[in-house]
Amino acid sequence: MRRPFVAGNWKMNLNRADAVALAAGLAARATQDGGVDLAVCPPSVYLDAVAAALNGSPIALGAQNMYHEAGGAFTGELSAAMLLDVGCKYVILGHSERRHVMGETSEDVNRKVHAALAAGLTPIVCVGELLDQREAGRTAEVIAEQFTASLAGVSADDMARTVMAYEPVWAIGTGKVATPDEAEAVHLDLRKLIEDRYNAEVAAAVRIQYGGSVKPDNAAELLAQPNIDGALVGGASLKVDDFLGIARGALS
Ligand code: PGA
Repeated sequence: MRRPFVAGNWKMNLNRADAVALAAGLAARATQDGGVDLAVCPPSVYLDAVAAALNGSPIALGAQNMYHEAGGAFTGELSAAMLLDVGCKYVILGHSERRHVMGETSEDVNRKVHAALAAGLTPIVCVGELLDQREAGRTAEVIAEQFTASLAGVSADDMARTVMAYEPVWAIGTGKVATPDEAEAVHLDLRKLIEDRYNAEVAAAVRIQYGGSVKPDNAAELLAQPNIDGALVGGASLKVDDFLGIARGALS
């Protein structure tokens, strides 16, 4: 059985004091074995401070991005080892804002996935279609392309411990959430892609989060779908009550 996993993507929000207060507020209220894995992904400059605030709590730390090289002359970038060094367990890779605003390709994402896995980080690999792609009936094709290229060359063991996130781009930060049926259909497709490429055991092990305007009042219905194993939460992860409300939704 896949354990639900809810992660907060704080994006480029908060200042140091507010990031620490949010982490401390979550740490104070998250229960040790709440039946759901939790993680927060603050801006990189606050990873250290947030790690300290989360210390002793069941909430794990993740980063929002990294570079694939191990070190050297790569101004402005961070390596997997640096993220591990400050206490990260997870790293979000291939988020749609990185793909569509920063121009990251699936090949870039693939290099990062390999570097993260080799270092012992768990990647949360995002895939998702744009509105015009959905309207043109191309969702399945786009998801298949992104999955195939972003996870190329990943072994079955590594795939089984990788987390995937389906995030329809038109639902991110827009308040327009995919219906549970729309999301479940893509999650099922994605699990079939994993099964075809690997096997049924690997497909059954991979946790697939849904992301895109998840809120406490829509989380339970989305997460009740058989192939939706958690959520990657942007806006609603910036408030203690909302984030923990979504985590509760994963259990109902
Ligand atoms: P949102 O963002 O919850 O604000 O829609 C989700 C995400 O980008 O991961």
